Amino acid sequence: MTRPLVIAPSMLAADFARLGEEISAVDRAGADWIHLDVMDGHFVPNISFGPDVIRAMRKHTKKFFDVHLMIAPVDPYLAAFADAGADLISVHAEAGPHLHRTLQAIRALGKQAGVVINPGTHESVIEPVLGMVDLVLLMTVNPGFGGQAFIDDVVEKTRRVRRMIGDRPIRLEIDGGITPETAPLVAAAGADTLVAGSAVFKAGNEEGYARNIAAIRAAAEDARAAA
Ligand code: DX5
Ligand code: ZN
Repeated sequence: MTRPLVIAPSMLAADFARLGEEISAVDRAGADWIHLDVMDGHFVPNISFGPDVIRAMRKHTKKFFDVHLMIAPVDPYLAAFADAGADLISVHAEAGPHLHRTLQAIRALGKQAGVVINPGTHESVIEPVLGMVDLVLLMTVNPGFGGQAFIDDVVEKTRRVRRMIGDRPIRLEIDGGITPETAPLVAAAGADTLVAGSAVFKAGNEEGYARNIAAIRAAAEDARAAA
């Protein structure tokens, strides 16, 4: 099944001193979703923002909030992120031993659920939970920082996970190093949802964000059409 392509700019690359303006700008510039990277300095070696900052951003856009939790433990914080305005909450398979319970808890909060795996994790770990997720997210960088180089090995993994998903109503998202050059590789392999941080925000203004989002979208759409 081919789902409409979604481009999700990551606010991690925005100007944190002007988050309200930045989120309104990417909204107007053509973002389909907003990707929100939550880091705890424990599961990943960096600290970003938490539920209160997401709640503050929520007032500035109606776009779908795609919340990527890079935290451990995760269960004690799920309700706070749901309450702050998340539409979908993704959790790492590597973040704890009780992935199934965590995904159940996200669904019980009335939110869409996503499972994420790092570049070094085999996709077999997500197979048992495919019946309870709305999205699979494959990292194409090691999580923790924006602006890292795309790891090519994940292109083949994307192809394999696309086959695993089959006809299930699950989006396949890619996060890390997405540019107009790398987007076609994963789009051709079956990804339908692309996160982009630095490749969008490097422009520094709304016109540039629109240009950058359009360039990623056009490159990915061409690759999907040709695949
Ligand atoms: C990395 C984050 C990504 C990151 C992407 O840990 O999950 O969402 O912000 O940034 P770029 O697009 O710059 O690689
Ligand atoms: Zn992310």
